[in-house]
Amino acid sequence: MAPDKFLGQTKYTMSARVYDAISAEWPVYRAGRIAAVEMLRIQPGMKVLDIGCGTGLNLPLVTRKIGPHGVYVGLDRSPEMLEQAQRKASRQELSNVSLLEADAMEVTSDELTHAIDGAAFDAVIATYALSLMREPRAGFEVAVAASRSGARIAVADMQLPNGLARVFAPLARLACYLGGADITARPWTLVEERCVDVEAASLRGGHIQVRAGRVD
Ligand SMILES: C[S@@+](CC[C@H](N)C(=O)[O-])C[C@H]1O[C@@H](n2cnc3c(N)ncnc32)[C@H](O)[C@@H]1O
Repeated sequence: MAPDKFLGQTKYTMSARVYDAISAEWPVYRAGRIAAVEMLRIQPGMKVLDIGCGTGLNLPLVTRKIGPHGVYVGLDRSPEMLEQAQRKASRQELSNVSLLEADAMEVTSDELTHAIDGAAFDAVIATYALSLMREPRAGFEVAVAASRSGARIAVADMQLPNGLARVFAPLARLACYLGGADITARPWTLVEERCVDVEAASLRGGHIQVRAGRVD
């Protein structure tokens, strides 16, 4: 099946329970989420939106920084993935976590900000999620619309590795294919287009690209 046909069809239902174990988190992808979280410069009390939050692997990194007075809102279209995220929140007895089941390409900014009593988000993160969307721009723009002026947005996503790491290209292709991601999507370019003061990181042989910037 061609990747573009596969795109968006991975529902993350059966795989939700084992996602954290099989997603090559520690050897490969954790580096990108840590860089993305750091580039957001999250302060205590901030309201942070996680687009395509999945099982909530960003959740502990973000909630540690926002503290008890901040709010973490995770949005995902897969109830099974959200169930795993809820487990993480419950295990840590976090009461400042709100999880929304919705399609990022269809949700409105009002629906997003409803979760924070109509306020605007201070920061947005999207890790390995926009490349699964048929219209990543729609998912990105609704997050921008739900954010305050000056909010920071970080995107970490995947492309083929470069340089000597090109030997790992078949593995990278396979990982993206199995995950339903379009390895050619380059959703971090949305940050470059839409934000100012953009910071960049290229990790794991260029396979992981991270961009973060400020909404003007
Ligand atoms: C590869 S997982 C990444 C999850 C998480 N962000 C992480 O870093 O581990 C991609 C997630 O994006 C979600 N997703 C894909 N398309 C979506 C859409 N249109 N709206 C909301 N969530 C979506 C999937 O359900 C899945 O949980």
